Amino acid sequence: MNILAISGSLRTASLNTKLVYALKDAAPPEFKLSVFEGIGNLPHFNPDLDGDEPPTAVQAWRKALQAADGIILCTPEYANGVPGVLKNALDWIVSSGEFVDKPTAVISASPLATGAEKAHDSLLLTLRMMTASIVGSSMIGNVNKKLDADGVWIDEELRSELSGLIGSLSVNK
Ligand SMILES: Cc1cc2nc3c(=O)[nH]c(=O)nc-3n(C[C@H](O)[C@H](O)[C@H](O)COP(=O)(O)O)c2cc1C
Repeated sequence: MNILAISGSLRTASLNTKLVYALKDAAPPEFKLSVFEGIGNLPHFNPDLDGDEPPTAVQAWRKALQAADGIILCTPEYANGVPGVLKNALDWIVSSGEFVDKPTAVISASPLATGAEKAHDSLLLTLRMMTASIVGSSMIGNVNKKLDADGVWIDEELRSELSGLIGSLSVNK
């Protein structure tokens, strides 16, 4: 299965992006996981731009989602919500429908103990509105202590939990 993973952070030293890349090392062998890094290139969502020829970055985002058998979204929390860049990326998909029935897993991660729970819940609300097939989710607190500086797993229990989450993408609920 081809899995596309997306981090909701644009920060160079993002913990969520580090986690998304570490998922490659947690995925069961039959899963090929790639990371989509283009959500920062998307214009602000505006239905007026979404005509016969949507912006190139939007076309690339939609194509990447279409080509994936399953999606993993990994979000930080800003001001008790989903980062604008990730919400913007999802807004572009409401009308085109790439999330409809798409096996999707949600991860939220924060250096705080709470695990970005409000962003987590908000992201699930948006994905359910788009009728994604949510196969599972994980809230990760203290994420800065779960991977080392090079993105190698420190927390083997978490790696195993996330391996199971990736595995559940093959079960279309
Ligand atoms: C403006 C701002 C607002 C933040 N708000 C929250 C918040 O509401 N909840 C939370 O858990 N962390 C919050 N944080 C801390 C982020 O979780 C932390 O910076 C995290 O590392 C960002 O994710 P990243 O490392 O993937 O970029 C905030 C950080 C910033 C800069």
